[in-house]
Amino acid sequence: MKKKIVIAIDGPAGSGKSTIARLVAKKLKILYIDSGAIYRAYTLQYLREEINLEEQETLVEFLERTTVNLESGKNGALIFVNRENVTKEIRSLEVTANVSLISENKNIREVVTKKLRSEAEHNSLVMDGRDIGTVVFPDAALKIFLTASIEERARRRKDDLKSAGVETDLEKIKNDIQRRDKHDSERYLAPLQKPDDAILLDTTNLAIDECVDFIIEKTLEKSV
Ligand code: CDP
Repeated sequence: MKKKIVIAIDGPAGSGKSTIARLVAKKLKILYIDSGAIYRAYTLQYLREEINLEEQETLVEFLERTTVNLESGKNGALIFVNRENVTKEIRSLEVTANVSLISENKNIREVVTKKLRSEAEHNSLVMDGRDIGTVVFPDAALKIFLTASIEERARRRKDDLKSAGVETDLEKIKNDIQRRDKHDSERYLAPLQKPDDAILLDTTNLAIDECVDFIIEKTLEKSV
């Protein structure tokens, strides 16, 4: 691609964001940043250290000394907290259950948003999350909002967990996803919502390749 481009992909849990965003970035040979992984990394460290979010000084100090980094590995992105590879740990059920609490915190959002914006200073990229098209990159060249039915999203999450060796009940996953989506959509700061200028893509009955091809086509239209 000739010019620098930011592609913002937002959507609820299990809508296919990370799989699709990663493949789009791979095809376009640009960077892929999973913003949720960064919120998950802070959540993991918060749980380990049992930080009290109400104590402002403790929180500021925690954010100053905690480093979170993304690196590209052979099988996708790797994430590090204080130089420790936590790529697997950030997907645990405990982190998933607590991440919305961390991601609604103003101090944490400020640190993460700054970090996310800095990634685009010198790179074209695809970034997925909840507020990428609304807050992080309101001027993104292309904004996609992915959705899928709750049944399909729960089924996908069950498959992801199964591949990671975790057997979980479908109804439980469904309830967890709905609870997290509600929390993410109703929070005061940077709620999950479709940007007005985003293209809505319902992935319920689409194959991954169809979604990827659609986004590539839209990108090429924008970047000629
Ligand atoms: O993969 P999944 O859709 O389950 O979630 P994720 O992308 O890993 O994001 C985990 C959580 O981080 C979300 O439920 C949000 O609470 C938070 N998040 C956010 O607030 N803003 C973002 N840009 C990305 C994630």
